[in-house]
This record gives sequence, C-alpha cells and structure tokens, in this order.
Amino acid sequence: MAQSDPNRIPLLARNLHFGYRSEEAVLRDVSLTVEKGQILGILGPNGSGKSTLLRLLSGWLKPQRGVVELWGEPLGRLGAREIATQIAVVPQETHVDFPFTAMEMVLMGRAPYLGGFAFESEADIACAREAMERMGVAHLARRMVQELSGGERQRVVLARALAQDTPVLLLDEPSAFLDLHHVVAIYDLLRDLAEEGRSIVTVLHDLNLAALYCDRVVLLSQGRVFCAGTPEEVITYKNITEVYETEVYVDLNDLTGAVNVLPLSRPYREQLRQQFGERKLS
Ligand SMILES: Nc1ncnc2c1ncn2[C@@H]1O[C@H](COP(=O)(O)OP(=O)(O)OP(=O)(O)O)[C@@H](O)[C@H]1O
Ligand SMILES: [Mg+2]
Repeated sequence: MAQSDPNRIPLLARNLHFGYRSEEAVLRDVSLTVEKGQILGILGPNGSGKSTLLRLLSGWLKPQRGVVELWGEPLGRLGAREIATQIAVVPQETHVDFPFTAMEMVLMGRAPYLGGFAFESEADIACAREAMERMGVAHLARRMVQELSGGERQRVVLARALAQDTPVLLLDEPSAFLDLHHVVAIYDLLRDLAEEGRSIVTVLHDLNLAALYCDRVVLLSQGRVFCAGTPEEVITYKNITEVYETEVYVDLNDLTGAVNVLPLSRPYREQLRQQFGERKLS
C-alpha cells in the first residue's frame, strides 16, 4: 500500500454511479477527493445517498460505474483485510445481536491485524484501552453492549474505529445519539485526528457542526453532488433553501466566524419567502 507516498491521495471517488436495483440510480456521477489531514463533511437531505456513498467509499458496496481509489489503487483490487487496515467505518446504526462486552466490541477493531485464529496481544488490548479512554468509555469496558444507552453504544463503536488505527475514517452521523458535551468532544477529537494526519469523512445533518469542524463539504441532492467546497461556499441561504426545500436563517457567528443555520417556524419561513420571492433566491 502506497500510504507512505506523500503524493498519493488517501481516498478518491470518480464518477460513481450506483443503484440498489439497477434501474433506479441512487448515486449519479459522484466524484470527491478526501485529502490527507482533512475533515470532509457529506451533507444532504434524508435519502439523498449519503450512507450509500459512504458504503461505496468503504468498499462495502461496489459502484456500477466509476471507481474508488485508496492511495491511488482501485478499491476493487484490494482484499477486505487490507482495506480494513486503511479504512475504519462507523455506520449510521450498529445492531448488536451477540452478548459482547464493550471491551470485546472495541477489540474487534484489532481483528484486521490478527492472523487466522490468533488471540489479541497485550499491545492490542492496550490499544483498545487507549481508544476507550479517548472516547470516555473506559469505565464501560465490562458492560454488555446491548445494555448501554444509545450515546454510550455510539461512543463504544467510535472507540472500535479508533482502535482499528487506520489513516482513513468514515463516519455516518457519529454524533446522532450524543448530548451536547459529547458532540463537541467527538468533533474535537476528529479535529485532533485530522491534525495527526488522518483523513476523515463524516456524514452530518447538523450544518452548524459542519461549518465549525469541516475543511470541505459536499452537498448531495437526489444522488448528485449539488455543490462542493468550503463550508462558507456551500452552506449558503440559496443552496440550503433549494436543496432542503425549506427557508432557513443563515448568519455568521460573531465568536467563531463560521456560518450558522437556524431552522425557522412557519410564520418566519413565509416572511422570508415573501421577502425573497418564491423562486428568486439571492
Ligand atoms: N439496502 C437498500 N436497498 C434498497 N434501497 C436502499 C437501501 N439503502 C438505501 N436505499 C435507498 O437509497 C436511497 C439513498 O439512501 P441512503 O441511506 O444512502 O440515504 P441517506 O442520505 O443516508 O439518508 P438519511 O439522511 O435518511 O440517512 C434512498 O432512496 C433509500 O431508500
Ligand atoms: Mg444515512
């Protein structure tokens, strides 16, 4: 794997086309580049194809057309274990059917490094412990995963991805179940990981978080890239109103300088619609 070559791009998607049933395209002509040391946000309404895109980027699904390249090599040519040493995934939902403890679940992140039926080494266990500490779930190590709260389980799944120790992380709404404290803790940690040189792709619904933490964002609409760029370029009144089909209030935050997006109740949405005209969005 050409990970050490600084000229290679960690992850790249070129002209992806995908449909679960071949006649219906869920993604059309989607291209994106995941730079080293950056956080890329994937935005878009429900059903716009964000999770599907992440599944293609991880190799879980294969595109009908187009290619995903990991360090310049087509993903389709690499084995599952090899991919798992490079890409860790935090899915939108994690179902746990077996009675695993949190520690056992985090240790699964070490599986790509173990041969055949080998057991985890002391180093693997230390790595899992460290990941749990970084996620603030070390105290849950012996608890059964099924018995954890939604947010606790989510942080255990994040710890599993950290224990996998990959240069690329793909996360599907990692903060969906988390309270305010843990939301910023997770994104601060993702920022630290990016600064360590990792490449992070995160799906997120919260446009304010995207503006605060992402280096670049891709806005999907009905399976296509509606636009891509810095959060300031993409998260505008015009783009958001058009793609989400609802008026929002967009402002610049005095403290952070990042864009802020506020949902509006109906009277205010109607007021804005009158102000800007039904179709004449500025
Ligand atoms: N396993 C599947 N089989 C068939 N169709 C699917 C499957 N998974 C998703 N779809 C369809 O593909 C489209 C895109 O779904 P996807 O889950 O990628 O959207 P999303 O942007 O992640 O939405 P959300 O914000 O609700 O998570 C939707 O129309 C969905 O119904
Ligand atoms: Mg999704």
